[in-house]
Order: sequence, then structure tokens, then C-alpha cells
Amino acid sequence: MQFAYAAYMSLLLLTLAHDQHRWNQSLATSDPFYPSPWMDPNADGWQEAYAKARAFVSQMTLLEKVNLTTGTGWASEQCVGQVGAIPRLGLRSLCMHDAPVGIRGTDYNSVFPSGQTAAATFDRALIHQRGYAMGMEAKGKGVTVLLGPVAGPLGRMPEGGRNWEGFSPDPVLTGIGMMESVRGIQEAGTVACAKHFIGNEQEHFRQVGEAHGYGYNISETLSSNIDDKTMHELYLWPFADAVRAGVGSVMCSYQQVNNSYGCQNSKLLNNLLKDELGFQGFIMSDWQAQHTGAASAVAGLDMSMPGDTEFNTGVSYWGANLTLAVVNGTVPEYRIDDMALRIMAAYFKVGKTIEQPPINMDFWTSDTYGPVHWAAGKGYQQINFHVDVRGDHGNLIREIAAKGTVLLKNTGSLPLNKPKFVAVIGEDAGPNPNGPNSCPDRGCDNGTLAMGWGSGSANFPYLVTPDYALQAQAIKDGTRYESILTNYAWSQTKALVSQANATAIVFVNADSGEGYINVDGNEGDRKNLTLWRSGDALVKNVSSLCSNTIVVIHSTGPVLVTDWYDNPNITAILWAGIPGQESGNSITDVLYGKVNPSARTPFTWGATRESYGTDVMYKPNNGDGPPQQDFAEGVFIDYRYFDKADTPLIYEFGHGLSYTTFEYSNIRVEKSNAGTYTPTTGKTAAAPTFGNFSTNLEDYVFPTNLEYIYQYIYPYLNTSDARNASADPHYGGTAEEFLPPHATDSSPQPLLRAAGRSSPGGNRQLYDVLYTVTADIKNTGAIPGDEVPQLYVSLGGPDDPKVQLRDFDRIRIDPGQTVPFRGKLTRRDLSNWDPAVQDWVISEYPKTVFVGPSSRKLALKADLS
Ligand code: NOJ
Repeated sequence: MQFAYAAYMSLLLLTLAHDQHRWNQSLATSDPFYPSPWMDPNADGWQEAYAKARAFVSQMTLLEKVNLTTGTGWASEQCVGQVGAIPRLGLRSLCMHDAPVGIRGTDYNSVFPSGQTAAATFDRALIHQRGYAMGMEAKGKGVTVLLGPVAGPLGRMPEGGRNWEGFSPDPVLTGIGMMESVRGIQEAGTVACAKHFIGNEQEHFRQVGEAHGYGYNISETLSSNIDDKTMHELYLWPFADAVRAGVGSVMCSYQQVNNSYGCQNSKLLNNLLKDELGFQGFIMSDWQAQHTGAASAVAGLDMSMPGDTEFNTGVSYWGANLTLAVVNGTVPEYRIDDMALRIMAAYFKVGKTIEQPPINMDFWTSDTYGPVHWAAGKGYQQINFHVDVRGDHGNLIREIAAKGTVLLKNTGSLPLNKPKFVAVIGEDAGPNPNGPNSCPDRGCDNGTLAMGWGSGSANFPYLVTPDYALQAQAIKDGTRYESILTNYAWSQTKALVSQANATAIVFVNADSGEGYINVDGNEGDRKNLTLWRSGDALVKNVSSLCSNTIVVIHSTGPVLVTDWYDNPNITAILWAGIPGQESGNSITDVLYGKVNPSARTPFTWGATRESYGTDVMYKPNNGDGPPQQDFAEGVFIDYRYFDKADTPLIYEFGHGLSYTTFEYSNIRVEKSNAGTYTPTTGKTAAAPTFGNFSTNLEDYVFPTNLEYIYQYIYPYLNTSDARNASADPHYGGTAEEFLPPHATDSSPQPLLRAAGRSSPGGNRQLYDVLYTVTADIKNTGAIPGDEVPQLYVSLGGPDDPKVQLRDFDRIRIDPGQTVPFRGKLTRRDLSNWDPAVQDWVISEYPKTVFVGPSSRKLALKADLS
């Protein structure tokens, strides 16, 4: 007995000591922000959608509203996520489906180049067309919300597993990528979803269960600790652009930000997204990223995905619990009304009408017939109609991947012109012997890399390999052609590339993806920056024997080329990114000069892994508590860090060569008369409600005439006894006891000074153009080509990056012709976020603008008055 007591005491002390240790660390915290902002009927671009949504929501019952906000459960229906239907009003279930390169898990869809590759085009129009084509394909399959584009990860760490799904670590390039993608997707009639909001920069420790799977017993997910200035100037920036473009939905992220979960963080959702940025659409959780019921509702979450607490538990934080929480007044009525309103407004905003064609595909099987409720094995019927939605998108895909291929080095071997003998080396040039779709969610690196892995994958309708396309070109040209599609046939490779007249093209790659799949020890994030499958050895071996070696890299981000890039036998290096289904045709177009390259690298190629100054956290740093990832470098990621720390790099951000040459001259700065900035003042209207509801719990009990489907999430209570219905023995109390102050306040709220008055994206004066910068670009070579002039600014302060990209264009220029480049600088472009003022402020430091072909070739410069 005594022993037991002593053991108990020491255990207690141990626990206390352990907790003490944790308390001693000053963990980042997230300020509360309540109440959750309600929709603004006058918001730019949303007025008509609001009116339609209000008319619709006013007819809905409470159960129907809850049904619209809560997913039906993992694998309960055909899409990766669905919410309940409103049959009484003729609305079928909404389908939320992946995403970033094509419609996931179906057939007869296209596979597009990754966002990162699209970013490398530096071409707004192409990114827009890509979005539109993807939106059309989604619509054709019956998808309501396409779960992209991606601005989180932004790309803080070069090893970040999902960087390829997004655009670039530069917030302006990503912001433009977001804006054009959102517009494109939504013009096609599909709701876009900006994800993952926010600070979702690495795969490790984003989910507790996943971390347990690779041996770390953490109790809570990683916390991305981001200060207010960095948040605004870097990570929030591209989301602001998405909101300004009218994005219909945003997905909150798995991990915590400043030690509060992404999907219940009122600072992020209520304050930044809905209030400051004036976001009018709805926020859905990432899959299983919701951890609370009422708390997440008042923190700003509008849709629970996929609806169950964890996959296939059959119970939900919302569903019946949300019904109960509204009836008993914990979650205020205006909040559930606002959730439904936001969802329906996004729906109507993209031109949808209540009657929508049915979903004609099924994510869980490619069989034609099967159970429509997959998890329950219920409702056997035709579920796949194999609808071909590809249109002529193959041409666009080929063009984007070619125009997104960066010519990093060329000493004159390119473009190829009927070469005598081409030897193609490497498995990255060939097919996956088991077929392009053989690895689930593309979780392997076999054959040519044309897609990363995870939920961002899709099924290839075909995959043109480099070997296939290059051989076809060779046959046409009368070129001798041989390929060795393995990295390990040393003697045969040596024999081949040593022959006279050989042009050796070596294909190598580096892959990454989402954290639920481990490929060769890479838990989503890459474990290093080297080439996969002995790629470096392959390049070195071939180039030691062949004086005309061309290297093509397919990768999800930068790799280390330091050891070999300046070998004179390596006459050209190309980064072909993640090209999608037309891979071989696109690279052939570039190698043979059918497309004159003009892409620019959307990230820096550092000389060493350490040169980036940031790295993935691979081991938890807080015992079994939430790993703490301090974003201590502030805004200094990628080129901003290299410029500041002067660490060694090989190819700078924005670098990319052409087969012609350009000359820059004559920079001019023109000031616009934008007037002075006026912070927003005033108040919102009080929160509206639409309709009313009964408080008699009998009215919410599961209907006797409805068949219960196993694991399906319903809005109904299983009994009219509240305690039993909630399955909570402590049921009772008031909202005030459980929720933070002001969480249920419906009175008019002050408008934030940086927020817009009805202008999504923030105070509209932030987007006033203050300066136009012009320069002349001359094509001094012999062939036509596109040039990508880039406009950078130095804000001049001691804490500002040396230069920051602010605008760019991609311009076609004929030989001898001179074309003006015109770049614009908005008020936001010239401001810093001032955490004390809580607004954007133009500092008194002298500002300089630069124009040039990359972040380090900025010969033209001018002062701003
Ligand atoms: C989790 C991923 O993080 C998200 O991007 C995706 O949309 C959902 N799963 C649904 O597949």
C-alpha cells in the first residue's frame, strides 16, 4: 500500500515536472477573435450570389442547414467528400473532390502539369487556361468543389512534400497563380478551394495518427509558429489574392498555428480570413482536421469534411451534435445560417443552379456498378459512367509543360537539329513497367516522373514518355536512336555513350508527396535534396564519357546539382518540373526548339541543403507535446534568404535561358495619382438570421421511414433526450460557460482598418496602383522568343529583403524588335505590415525598383520618389 502511494506520488511529481518543463517554454499563442464574421450582402462580386443564397437558405429547415454543413462520412458516397442533399428543395449532394493536377481516382480525365510547373511559365494566361480546363473537367464529372489551388505549402522548406501542388515560395508569384487559377476554375462553373490555410509547410507531424505510424508518439500536431508581420507579408499574401479573385471556399489545415488547430483557430479564420480579407465563401476542414464541435463552429468553420470525427467512426463533431448545439443555443442561430449562406453563395456565384447533373464517377472503385454508399456497401447501382471530360486539353497540357520547362544551362548544344546519334539514358525517360497508374495515389518512383504522390494525384489517361516522343522525333529526322531505361546498366551505358557522335540525354528525378504515403523512407517530405535512384552517379558517369551530355530533371522542387552542373561535358541542363500526361512531347518540343524556352525557376537552386536556412523538422522537439516549428526566419525564405545570408547558390530564383538573347534598357517610372490611404472605419450590420426552428427535440429525431446507412453522418438525433442524444454524461450548461467571450455576439461589429468595405481581399486602396515601371526589351538574337521581364522592389528598411518580386510579364519578341515591358506597383506592394497599427504602412525608407531577367540580374534600377 505504502509502495503504491510512493509510486503514485513520484508519478505525480514526474508528471508535474514534465508539465513544468513544458510551461517553461514560452510557447507561441494565438489570440482569440470573436464573433465569427457574417456575410456582407454588398461584397463586390457576391451581391447576386448572396441574394440567391438568402432566398434558398430562407426556405431551409435547421436539419437541412446542418445537413449542408456536415459531410456524410468517409467513403459514404461517391466523392472524396460530400455533404447531405436537400431533396425537398431539389438540391443534390454537393461533391468536394481532389484536385491539383486532375480529377482524382477517375478515368477519362486529363493530368495537367503541377502548379509549380505552371508557375515556371510566369504566364498568367496559361495558368488561367489551366484553371479553366480543370474546372471544366471537374464540372463534367459532377464535382461541385475542386479542392485546389494550393498556396499552403508556400514552400518554406525545399524538401516540403507538397510544394509541387502549389506554385512558388515567392508570395507574389503564388498569389498570381492563385488568382488566375481561381478565376479559371470558377469561370468554368466549379467552385475553387484555396488550401491549406495556413502554415501547412511540411508533412511531418501534420497529423497525430500519421506521426504514430512512423514512430513518434506526439499528442498534438505540429504548431507552425508565425508572427503577425511574416503572416501578412508572406503566407497570407497569396490567400488574399485568392479571396480577391472571389474564391468560393478555403480549406483550413491539419496542423496548428501558434498552438491552436487550423480549423478552430479564431485568429486565422474569423480575424484574418473572414474579417480582414473579407472572405465571403465557406471554410471547410481538411479531412479529419476538425477537433471540436461548437468551438470550431464559432471559430469560423463552415463545413466539416469528410464529416466523421475520424474516418469511418460513424459519429461527427457536427451532424446531430450541431443540431443539438443550435437548438440549445450553444451555437447561435446566425452562425448556422451564415454557414449555409456561405456554402450556397459560393455555389450560386459560379453560375450553378439548383438542378445539377448527377455525379457520374466514383472515387472508391473504377467498377461500373457498385455500392453508392461504399463504406456501408449499400445501394448497388451504376456508379461510374466513364464520362470523357478531357476535351482537347492534351494540347494545352503539352504547351504548359513545354513553356514551364526551365533551360538552366546551355553552352550551345541546344536546340537539337537532326543530331546524328541520340542516346537516352535513365529510367526517368521510360515507362513504369507496371503501368503509369499502378502505384496507389502514385506512391512510388518508377519510370518517368510526371506527378507527385498523395491526394494531389490523378489517373493518367496515357503518359507520353520522353523515350517514346524522342524516338519518334529521331525516326522522323533520320537520327540513330538508342535508349537504356535503367539507371543501373553501367557497362551497357558506358559502351553506348562512349561512341562517336553521341548526344547523351540523361533523365533523372526526385519525387515527393503527401505524408500518408512513405516512398523509400520519404514520409511525404523529401529526406534530402539529392537525386533519386542513383541519379547523381548516372549523371557523373555519363558525363565523364560523353562530351555532349544533356541533363533533364523531373522533380518536385530543387535538387543539388553542385557536384556536376559546371562540368564542361554537361552542355545543357533543363528542369522539366512535374509535366503531366504529355511529358515526352513537351520535353521534345523544347529540346528541338519547337518551343523556344522562356520558363523561369520558381525557386532557388542552392549549392547545399544548408544554404536554404530552413529545413523540415524530422524529429519532434517538444517531447510528446506538439512539435514547435518557429518560423524564426520571418519573411526570409528562398531567394530572400540567399540574398540576406549570402549563402551559396547555383541558379537564382527567376533564372531561365532562351535560344535567343535579350537586352534590357531605358527604365522609366511613372507615378499615379492614387490619393492617400484611408483606413476603413464604421460597423457591420447586426447578424441576420433566416427562418426559424423548433426547440422541441422530438422534431429532430431520426425519421422512422428513413433507412439508416451504416457509418453515414446524419443531422438527426437518435433520441429526443438531449443527454443521450449527445452521448455526453455532462450535458448541460450554457454557451457562456463553454465558449470564449463574444463567441455568440450578434451585434454590429467594428470594421477593421485593413479590411475592405465590401471589398474581398482587404481595403481596396491596398490595390491602387501607385507606380508604373516601364523598360524596353530587345530581342538581340536570331529567332523569335518569349522573355519574362521581372519587376523587383527594395522597400529599403533594415528588416526588408534585398529585393522582392512584385510583377512580371511574358512577352513575345521577334528578332531585332524592341517591346516595352510595363510593371505595376500597388500600395500593398510598397507597404509593410505594421503589427502595432494592424495595417499596411509605407515606411519612410527610400525605395528602389529593379527590372531584369532574374532576381540577380537586375541591371536596370530607379528610385521611387
Ligand atoms: C487531405 C489533403 O491534405 C487535402 O489536400 C485533400 O484535399 C483531402 N485530404 C481530401 O483528399
